[in-house]
Amino acid sequence: MNILFIGDVVGSLGREMVKEYVPKLKEKYRSHITIINGENAASGKGITEKIYRQFLETGAQVVTLGNHSWDNKDVFRFIDEAKYLVRPANFPEGTPGKGITYVKINEIEIAVISLQGRTFMPALDCPFRKADELITEAKARTPFIFVDFHAEATSEKQAMGWYLDGRVLAVIGTHTHVQTADERILPGGTAYLTDVGMTGPYDGILGVERDAVLKRFLTGLPVRFEIPKKGRTQLSAVLIEVDKNKGIAKKITRILINDDHPLYS
Ligand SMILES: [Fe+2]
Repeated sequence: MNILFIGDVVGSLGREMVKEYVPKLKEKYRSHITIINGENAASGKGITEKIYRQFLETGAQVVTLGNHSWDNKDVFRFIDEAKYLVRPANFPEGTPGKGITYVKINEIEIAVISLQGRTFMPALDCPFRKADELITEAKARTPFIFVDFHAEATSEKQAMGWYLDGRVLAVIGTHTHVQTADERILPGGTAYLTDVGMTGPYDGILGVERDAVLKRFLTGLPVRFEIPKKGRTQLSAVLIEVDKNKGIAKKITRILINDDHPLYS
Protein backbone atom coordinates (compact mmCIF):
# COMPACT_ATOMS: atom_id res chain seq x y z
CA MET A 1 0.00 0.00 0.00
CA ASN A 2 1.33 3.42 -1.00
CA ILE A 3 0.44 6.77 0.53
CA LEU A 4 0.98 9.97 -1.46
CA PHE A 5 1.12 13.18 0.56
CA ILE A 6 1.12 16.56 -1.22
CA GLY A 7 2.72 19.47 0.66
CA ASP A 8 1.10 22.79 1.41
CA VAL A 9 -0.92 23.86 -1.64
CA VAL A 10 -0.68 27.64 -2.11
CA GLY A 11 -3.25 29.61 -4.11
CA SER A 12 -4.56 29.03 -7.61
CA LEU A 13 -1.16 28.00 -9.02
CA GLY A 14 -0.89 25.31 -6.35
CA ARG A 15 -4.39 24.07 -7.08
CA GLU A 16 -3.57 23.87 -10.80
CA MET A 17 -0.48 21.78 -9.98
CA VAL A 18 -2.65 19.41 -7.94
CA LYS A 19 -5.09 19.06 -10.83
CA GLU A 20 -2.33 18.44 -13.34
CA TYR A 21 0.04 16.23 -11.35
CA VAL A 22 -1.96 14.22 -8.81
CA PRO A 23 -3.39 11.89 -11.50
CA LYS A 24 0.11 11.49 -13.00
CA LEU A 25 1.71 10.81 -9.61
CA LYS A 26 -0.98 8.34 -8.65
CA GLU A 27 -0.25 6.41 -11.81
CA LYS A 28 3.54 6.66 -11.62
CA TYR A 29 3.78 5.69 -7.95
CA ARG A 30 0.70 3.46 -7.79
CA SER A 31 -0.57 5.24 -4.71
CA HIS A 32 -3.72 4.02 -3.01
CA ILE A 33 -4.40 7.04 -0.86
CA THR A 34 -3.68 10.71 -1.46
CA ILE A 35 -3.55 13.27 1.34
CA ILE A 36 -3.22 17.00 0.64
CA ASN A 37 -2.29 19.80 3.03
CA GLY A 38 -4.62 22.58 1.94
CA GLU A 39 -4.28 25.23 4.63
CA ASN A 40 -2.99 27.84 2.12
CA ALA A 41 -5.13 26.74 -0.82
CA ALA A 42 -7.50 29.74 -0.86
CA SER A 43 -5.27 32.64 -1.97
CA GLY A 44 -2.66 31.56 0.58
CA LYS A 45 -5.09 31.79 3.47
CA GLY A 46 -7.24 28.90 4.58
CA ILE A 47 -9.59 26.80 2.50
CA THR A 48 -13.13 27.02 1.10
CA GLU A 49 -15.69 24.27 0.70
CA LYS A 50 -15.36 24.53 -3.09
CA ILE A 51 -11.59 23.93 -2.92
CA TYR A 52 -11.98 21.08 -0.43
CA ARG A 53 -14.42 19.40 -2.80
CA GLN A 54 -12.12 20.02 -5.78
CA PHE A 55 -9.30 18.24 -3.96
CA LEU A 56 -11.53 15.23 -3.29
CA GLU A 57 -12.65 15.21 -6.94
CA THR A 58 -9.01 15.34 -8.08
CA GLY A 59 -8.38 12.12 -6.20
CA ALA A 60 -7.49 13.10 -2.63
CA GLN A 61 -9.07 11.14 0.20
CA VAL A 62 -8.11 13.49 3.05
CA VAL A 63 -7.23 17.20 3.32
CA THR A 64 -5.20 18.51 6.27
CA LEU A 65 -4.93 22.06 7.61
CA GLY A 66 -2.66 24.02 9.98
CA ASN A 67 -2.22 27.43 11.58
CA HIS A 68 -4.12 29.08 8.70
CA SER A 69 -7.18 26.86 9.21
CA TRP A 70 -9.45 29.79 10.09
CA ASP A 71 -8.20 32.44 7.65
CA ASN A 72 -11.07 31.99 5.21
CA LYS A 73 -14.37 32.37 7.05
CA ASP A 74 -16.08 29.85 4.73
CA VAL A 75 -14.43 27.11 6.78
CA PHE A 76 -16.72 27.70 9.77
CA ARG A 77 -19.74 26.98 7.58
CA PHE A 78 -18.66 23.50 6.46
CA ILE A 79 -15.83 22.12 8.62
CA ASP A 80 -18.08 20.21 11.01
CA GLU A 81 -19.70 18.33 8.11
CA ALA A 82 -16.48 17.82 6.12
CA LYS A 83 -15.72 14.21 6.95
CA TYR A 84 -12.27 14.15 5.37
CA LEU A 85 -10.96 17.55 6.50
CA VAL A 86 -8.70 17.63 9.57
CA ARG A 87 -7.35 20.64 11.42
CA PRO A 88 -4.64 20.39 14.10
CA ALA A 89 -5.97 18.16 16.87
CA ASN A 90 -4.31 20.15 19.64
CA PHE A 91 -6.45 23.26 19.23
CA PRO A 92 -8.35 23.85 22.48
CA GLU A 93 -11.38 21.78 23.38
CA GLY A 94 -14.49 23.14 21.64
CA THR A 95 -12.70 24.29 18.45
CA PRO A 96 -14.78 23.51 15.31
CA GLY A 97 -13.79 20.51 13.22
CA LYS A 98 -11.69 17.54 14.23
CA GLY A 99 -8.03 16.49 14.34
CA ILE A 100 -8.39 12.89 13.21
CA THR A 101 -10.28 11.15 10.44
CA TYR A 102 -10.45 7.63 9.05
CA VAL A 103 -10.49 6.59 5.41
CA LYS A 104 -10.97 3.10 4.05
CA ILE A 105 -9.18 1.96 0.88
CA ASN A 106 -9.38 -1.65 -0.34
CA GLU A 107 -10.61 -2.86 3.06
CA ILE A 108 -7.72 -1.14 4.83
CA GLU A 109 -8.54 1.69 7.19
CA ILE A 110 -6.06 4.53 7.65
CA ALA A 111 -6.23 7.13 10.41
CA VAL A 112 -5.00 10.60 9.45
CA ILE A 113 -4.00 12.93 12.29
CA SER A 114 -3.07 16.61 12.12
CA LEU A 115 -1.01 18.19 14.91
CA GLN A 116 0.55 21.62 15.22
CA GLY A 117 3.86 22.54 16.84
CA ARG A 118 4.28 25.12 19.60
CA THR A 119 7.82 26.37 19.03
CA PHE A 120 7.76 29.80 17.29
CA MET A 121 4.01 29.29 16.80
CA PRO A 122 0.84 30.25 18.70
CA ALA A 123 0.34 28.46 22.01
CA LEU A 124 -1.81 25.34 21.74
CA ASP A 125 -2.31 22.20 23.79
CA CYS A 126 0.69 19.83 23.90
CA PRO A 127 0.96 18.07 20.50
CA PHE A 128 2.92 15.16 22.03
CA ARG A 129 0.29 14.33 24.65
CA LYS A 130 -2.51 14.87 22.10
CA ALA A 131 -0.70 12.42 19.81
CA ASP A 132 -0.67 9.82 22.62
CA GLU A 133 -4.39 10.29 23.12
CA LEU A 134 -5.32 10.02 19.44
CA ILE A 135 -3.02 7.09 18.74
CA THR A 136 -4.69 5.15 21.56
CA GLU A 137 -8.06 5.99 20.01
CA ALA A 138 -6.95 5.08 16.48
CA LYS A 139 -5.23 1.81 17.46
CA ALA A 140 -8.59 0.47 18.57
CA ARG A 141 -9.60 0.63 14.90
CA THR A 142 -6.46 0.35 12.78
CA PRO A 143 -2.68 -0.07 13.01
CA PHE A 144 -2.23 2.34 10.06
CA ILE A 145 -1.79 5.91 11.25
CA PHE A 146 -0.47 8.89 9.27
CA VAL A 147 0.57 12.11 11.05
CA ASP A 148 0.91 15.57 9.43
CA PHE A 149 2.95 17.59 11.94
CA HIS A 150 2.47 21.26 11.07
CA ALA A 151 5.36 22.97 12.79
CA GLU A 152 8.08 25.58 12.39
CA ALA A 153 11.05 24.22 14.34
CA THR A 154 13.06 21.36 12.87
CA SER A 155 13.90 20.22 16.41
CA GLU A 156 10.26 19.93 17.42
CA LYS A 157 9.55 17.97 14.23
CA GLN A 158 12.44 15.56 14.80
CA ALA A 159 11.33 15.15 18.40
CA MET A 160 7.83 14.18 17.23
CA GLY A 161 9.28 11.72 14.72
CA TRP A 162 11.28 9.95 17.42
CA TYR A 163 8.43 10.18 19.95
CA LEU A 164 6.04 8.40 17.58
CA ASP A 165 8.56 5.99 16.02
CA GLY A 166 7.10 2.51 15.94
CA ARG A 167 3.63 3.76 16.79
CA VAL A 168 2.57 5.34 13.47
CA LEU A 169 3.29 4.78 9.77
CA ALA A 170 4.60 8.26 9.13
CA VAL A 171 5.36 11.62 10.69
CA ILE A 172 5.60 14.15 7.87
CA GLY A 173 6.27 17.81 8.57
CA THR A 174 4.47 20.69 6.89
CA HIS A 175 4.32 24.51 7.27
CA THR A 176 7.80 25.81 6.37
CA HIS A 177 7.14 25.48 2.60
CA VAL A 178 10.75 24.39 2.02
CA GLN A 179 11.34 20.70 1.39
CA THR A 180 14.02 19.08 3.53
CA ALA A 181 16.21 16.22 2.32
CA ASP A 182 16.21 14.11 5.50
CA GLU A 183 13.66 11.47 4.56
CA ARG A 184 14.26 8.23 6.42
CA ILE A 185 12.68 5.19 7.98
CA LEU A 186 13.23 5.41 11.73
CA PRO A 187 14.31 2.19 13.52
CA GLY A 188 10.78 1.37 14.70
CA GLY A 189 9.40 1.54 11.14
CA THR A 190 8.02 5.09 11.01
CA ALA A 191 8.63 7.10 7.82
CA TYR A 192 9.91 10.58 8.65
CA LEU A 193 10.50 13.83 6.75
CA THR A 194 11.03 17.16 8.51
CA ASP A 195 9.14 19.12 5.85
CA VAL A 196 7.49 17.99 2.64
CA GLY A 197 7.59 21.49 1.10
CA MET A 198 5.15 23.64 -0.83
CA THR A 199 3.02 23.26 -3.96
CA GLY A 200 2.44 26.52 -5.82
CA PRO A 201 4.46 29.50 -7.07
CA TYR A 202 8.12 28.59 -7.65
CA ASP A 203 9.58 32.09 -7.91
CA GLY A 204 8.00 33.70 -4.88
CA ILE A 205 9.23 33.57 -1.28
CA LEU A 206 7.55 30.60 0.43
CA GLY A 207 4.84 30.95 -2.22
CA VAL A 208 4.23 34.68 -1.59
CA GLU A 209 4.83 37.50 -4.15
CA ARG A 210 8.49 38.28 -3.49
CA ASP A 211 8.47 42.09 -3.92
CA ALA A 212 6.26 42.57 -0.86
CA VAL A 213 8.35 40.19 1.24
CA LEU A 214 11.54 41.95 0.16
CA LYS A 215 10.01 45.33 1.01
CA ARG A 216 9.21 44.12 4.50
CA PHE A 217 12.75 42.85 5.05
CA LEU A 218 14.28 46.03 3.65
CA THR A 219 12.05 48.58 5.38
CA GLY A 220 10.43 46.80 8.33
CA LEU A 221 7.14 48.38 7.29
CA PRO A 222 3.92 46.38 7.24
CA VAL A 223 3.08 45.16 3.74
CA ARG A 224 0.21 43.24 2.20
CA PHE A 225 1.24 39.79 1.06
CA GLU A 226 -0.17 38.66 -2.29
CA ILE A 227 -0.03 35.21 -3.84
CA PRO A 228 1.23 35.11 -7.46
CA LYS A 229 -1.44 34.07 -9.95
CA LYS A 230 0.95 33.42 -12.81
CA GLY A 231 4.53 32.31 -13.27
CA ARG A 232 6.54 29.16 -12.74
CA THR A 233 5.22 26.49 -10.39
CA GLN A 234 6.33 23.56 -8.30
CA LEU A 235 4.87 20.56 -6.53
CA SER A 236 6.26 19.03 -3.36
CA ALA A 237 5.19 15.63 -2.12
CA VAL A 238 6.29 12.41 -0.50
CA LEU A 239 5.45 8.78 -1.10
CA ILE A 240 5.33 6.24 1.72
CA GLU A 241 5.33 2.55 0.92
CA VAL A 242 3.66 0.53 3.63
CA ASP A 243 4.29 -3.07 4.63
CA LYS A 244 0.68 -4.12 5.11
CA ASN A 245 1.53 -7.27 7.04
CA LYS A 246 3.93 -5.68 9.49
CA GLY A 247 2.01 -2.40 9.75
CA ILE A 248 5.15 -0.32 9.25
CA ALA A 249 6.65 1.88 6.52
CA LYS A 250 9.21 0.21 4.30
CA LYS A 251 10.26 3.06 2.01
CA ILE A 252 9.95 6.84 1.80
CA THR A 253 10.54 8.80 -1.41
CA ARG A 254 10.65 12.58 -1.69
CA ILE A 255 9.00 14.12 -4.75
CA LEU A 256 9.87 17.61 -6.00
CA ILE A 257 8.66 18.83 -9.37
CA ASN A 258 9.72 22.17 -10.81
CA ASP A 259 11.78 23.48 -13.73
CA ASP A 260 14.98 22.46 -11.94
CA HIS A 261 13.60 19.01 -11.08
CA PRO A 262 11.30 17.85 -13.92
CA LEU A 263 9.02 14.90 -13.16
CA TYR A 264 10.57 12.32 -15.46
CA SER A 265 14.23 13.21 -15.03
FE1 LIG B 1 1.27 26.82 8.14
